[in-house]
Amino acid sequence: MIKSCNQFSNSSNTAEIVENESRGSLTPLQWNKANQMNKINLLSKFKRFNDTWSPKVIAEMNEYQFKLAKIENEFIWHTHEETDEVFIVLEGKMGIEFEDKTVELEAGEMIVVPKGKRHKPFAEKEAKIMLVEPRGVVNTGDVKNELTAENDQWI
Ligand code: NI
Repeated sequence: MIKSCNQFSNSSNTAEIVENESRGSLTPLQWNKANQMNKINLLSKFKRFNDTWSPKVIAEMNEYQFKLAKIENEFIWHTHEETDEVFIVLEGKMGIEFEDKTVELEAGEMIVVPKGKRHKPFAEKEAKIMLVEPRGVVNTGDVKNELTAENDQWI
């Protein structure tokens, strides 16, 4: 389990080599599918993007996707009527406001947000998180606004 930023940052050279290989003309999805049997290094993946609140897909398991996101400041109140949503904090701290309470999470902690439960994630400073949810889930749930991210953004 991830206990500290240092431990998380301790990426192996092998993973860096795989991730830094030229992708040629392959799309990110094609590249990831072609490398399905190779290990995935989370830190290497985080180096591939800087935008916040815009989850990037790094793997799929059956119909579920594993997504990485950098988050900072407040997101918006929203609900996913059709699915639960998993947040795993890898680096930094985040919180999730619910209508009846606020849950604060730090690196090495996770939460399952039940479907239909209104929530608003936030992070005072940039945090790195992983989301696990079915393919096709929209980050802003029932709300569409400028924070609504494109889906299936493989990196
Ligand atoms: Ni959500």
